[in-house]
Amino acid sequence: MLDTCGREIDYLRISITDRCNLRCVYCMPAGGVASFAHGDVLSYEEIVRAVRLFARLGVRHLRVTGGEPMARRGCLSLIERLHTIDGIESIAMTTNALLLDGCVAWAREAGLDALNISIDSLNPDTYRAMTRGGDVRRVLAVIDDALSLGIKVKLNAVPVRGMNDGDLAELASLARERPVPVRFIELMPVGCGAGLTPVPSDEVRALLERAYGPLTEDGTRRGFGPARYVRAAGFAGPFGFISPVSHEFCDRCNRVRLTADGFLKLCLNHTAGLDVRALLRGGSSDEALLEALRAAVAAKPRRHGFMDEIGDREVRRMNEIGG
Ligand code: GTP
Ligand code: 5AD
Ligand code: SF4
Repeated sequence: MLDTCGREIDYLRISITDRCNLRCVYCMPAGGVASFAHGDVLSYEEIVRAVRLFARLGVRHLRVTGGEPMARRGCLSLIERLHTIDGIESIAMTTNALLLDGCVAWAREAGLDALNISIDSLNPDTYRAMTRGGDVRRVLAVIDDALSLGIKVKLNAVPVRGMNDGDLAELASLARERPVPVRFIELMPVGCGAGLTPVPSDEVRALLERAYGPLTEDGTRRGFGPARYVRAAGFAGPFGFISPVSHEFCDRCNRVRLTADGFLKLCLNHTAGLDVRALLRGGSSDEALLEALRAAVAAKPRRHGFMDEIGDREVRRMNEIGG
């Protein structure tokens, strides 16, 4: 499926819940967030129907996100069903990993190819403070289980000034023995991220070079996202940088997002999109839905515009978008 800027859209991020077992400082407020009402959330039947249609339009890669996807009952059964859809070539999940503890083997059997796991620090106190309650040892257990079962694993950290900026080199050391990319995501000024101070990717890169010596570019393709990778001598895995603010990658964007309440988001930072739930529940035929999806995707915004005055800036929190 091509948009009007000529970008090939073949990747769909599906947020299956806005709920989460954690409250990361850059994503959710400390307490009392209202979740989507049960009836507003797409059922698994509705998600499967939508994905069948997206697959007919050329979507090949799926990423299941949240909130925390494992916080919704039946998440792994959904993955099993998505795995059987013609045209779908890979299914990944973005997760904080805690609820996968003990069920990684089941996830593998369900057809999960890859896991992106959020881990902001190896220091148990910093991790607990940034996630407001998580236990980093359980995350490490899931990482090692997943690797031993042959699931591709990538790690995501969001450097935040005054919180984990002193822990980043230690975190990167996870890639010394393990073949896992450790990726640093520039904090985006979306939702709760707007009140915190980012650490630009170039600064993180410089501190990693001071710790581990010269970094060389690594052009290997890993997954289907916007990360750029570099390697340090003697490390089994690379370091990655996702830098939407300092190195915009919108011209290469390949994705759209389906929120848990059934809205097709065309860009992370714009409200523009399509109410797919209304069409699914309003009795639209497959043909009418295909036409509506195609027309919506064609109109995908050219750029995120984080730093610009844009008329339709996203106001939802990251847990309602799925990252
Ligand atoms: P792979 O590289 O294929 O594993 O996927 P990914 O990096 O896109 O997935 P992941 O869910 O791990 O996302 C990592 C970070 O990249 C999250 O903070 C996302 O919000 C961010 N990200 C992913 N896609 C986009 C995008 O289109 N625009 C922006 N600004 N950020 C994105
Ligand atoms: N800026 C950057 N990344 C964020 N994430 C959540 N909120 C933000 C934000 N404001 C990341 C999480 C997770 C991914 C899906 O999105 O750490 O790895
Ligand atoms: Fe939950 Fe992920 Fe948001 Fe943290 S970043 S609160 S783990 S959805």
